[in-house]
Parts: sequence; structure tokens; C-alpha cells
Amino acid sequence: MDNQMEMRMLDVGCGTGEWAVRAAQEYPEAAVVGIDLITMDVLRKPCDLAAAAPNAHFFNYSIDYNQDWPRALGDFDFVHLSLLAGKIDDWPTTYKRASRCMRPNGIVEHVEISWEPHSTDSAGLQADELPLMQWYRDMESATANIGKPFALRRDTCQQLQAAGFEDVDEATFQIPFWEYRPRDPHRHKLSNWIHTILSENSGAWERSFFARCVLLFTHVLGYDEQQVRQMCQDAARIVCREDSPLYYNLHVWRGRKPQR
Ligand SMILES: C[S@@+](CC[C@H](N)C(=O)[O-])C[C@H]1O[C@@H](n2cnc3c(N)ncnc32)[C@H](O)[C@@H]1O
Repeated sequence: MDNQMEMRMLDVGCGTGEWAVRAAQEYPEAAVVGIDLITMDVLRKPCDLAAAAPNAHFFNYSIDYNQDWPRALGDFDFVHLSLLAGKIDDWPTTYKRASRCMRPNGIVEHVEISWEPHSTDSAGLQADELPLMQWYRDMESATANIGKPFALRRDTCQQLQAAGFEDVDEATFQIPFWEYRPRDPHRHKLSNWIHTILSENSGAWERSFFARCVLLFTHVLGYDEQQVRQMCQDAARIVCREDSPLYYNLHVWRGRKPQR
């Protein structure tokens, strides 16, 4: 690994490497390191990565982010953590691990979607939209029960400060479930993004909900599998409705490692 690169970025739990590829495309002089239990080349062919970002300097390692991160990874100017709620054992320790592998003035960025549905309708969620809220509440309680809460922490800014970061801030953006007519290009892009993450059609959403909850709901909450299937089908139908007033919130926290 080349520590002499001008800028070094770390993507923690990089998944298929979407963020890492984009970062490398945007900053072709930077070195981008992705760590995950599964390495990207298992999920994307190395030639896909090379074609997507021909000048990129990628390094991808299979590392458990819930264990200490190896010093050999080097130091970074930017550490990115995205969509890891419910998978991190201990957030304060994770932020400290991030800080330890950062250069002074480096930026940590943590991005999460809160899966709690909201409505732009002043009356809140309608009766026929409640199955989606029920799915969220059940996920919240099952994941809290096993000690890996899926609900976002309200004290994230304080946790980042406690890990030594300065200039900590939080930005929140609405992700509309359905923005068919691109009235606002930014909202349209966010809406497309959420449907790309979990796929566009209700069958794919149903499979995604099911994959995430089936073990938790059957083992922790005692539901039977058929009940879980039905819940996921109902929830998926709500997400894919046209002209839905529902949205999720996207949270972005940032902090800077001090000079000393
Ligand atoms: C929901 S995905 C998020 C992927 C990516 N960060 C994104 O925003 O699309 C969670 C990722 O965490 C990885 N993961 C789960 N537990 C892990 C662990 N203990 N150590 C390293 N990676 C882990 C999974 O393999 C998966 O790629």
C-alpha cells in the first residue's frame, strides 16, 4: 500500500464498492481503501472496477470492523461510514478506531437512513400505511433486543465529540418514496437512490425486507415465517405506491480530527 499518495480515503463496510468507485472517479489522484467482511472483487469483477475508475488506486481488504483496525492500513484524510446501523457492535469505539487511523484535520463522515417512515401529510401516516410502521417498530425492538439497534442514535454528535472530533455537525435530508415527476431534481435523485438501493419493484422490496428481518422476527419476536412474508409483502406495497407522501430521513454527520 502506498502511503505517499496525496489523499487517502477509507470506506468502512464498503459493500459492493459503489461509494469507493465514485470517490476514486472524482479524486483520481487519491488512494481509496475499502474494508468489509467480503471483498469487493467477490461482489464486482475486478475488471468492472478498473473500467469504472481506470485511474483509481483501490485497495480492498477483508477486515472485521468490529475488531481493532490494523495499523498497516495507514492514516487517512477521509473516513466514510455508510448504512452500518444495526451492524456495528459499539459506535463510540468505532468512532475512536476511525480517529486513530486519521491524519490531523481529516474528516469522518457517517451516513445513515432512518428506516422510520414519515409522511408529508399533516395527519401523519394513514391506516393503510401502518404496516410499514409496524415493520419498522418490530425491527427496532428485535435489533435492540440483540444489542445491535437499527434505530439511529440521537446522541451521534456527542459520540463523535467524545471520540475527539471537532466541528461536528449533522445534516438531514428527506428521501421521498416516490418522486415520479422530477419537480425538484435533488429530491428526484434521492428518491431514485433509495429505489436503487433496494430495487425498484415491490417484489424486490419484499425480498429485501424479508432478508433483513426473517431471522430476527422468527427467532427474537416469535412470529411464524408465513406471518413475516405477509408483513413484508404489505410493507413493500406501501413503499412502491405512486404519488406516496411518505419519506425516510437521511442523516449525514461529519467531524474533523483536530490538528493536535
Ligand atoms: C448495508 S451494507 C452497506 C454497504 C455500503 N457501506 C453502502 O453504503 O452501500 C453493510 C456492509 O457491512 C458489511 N459488514 C457487516 N458486518 C461486518 C463486519 N463485522 N466487518 C466488516 N464488514 C461488515 C457487509 O458485508 C455489508 O457490505
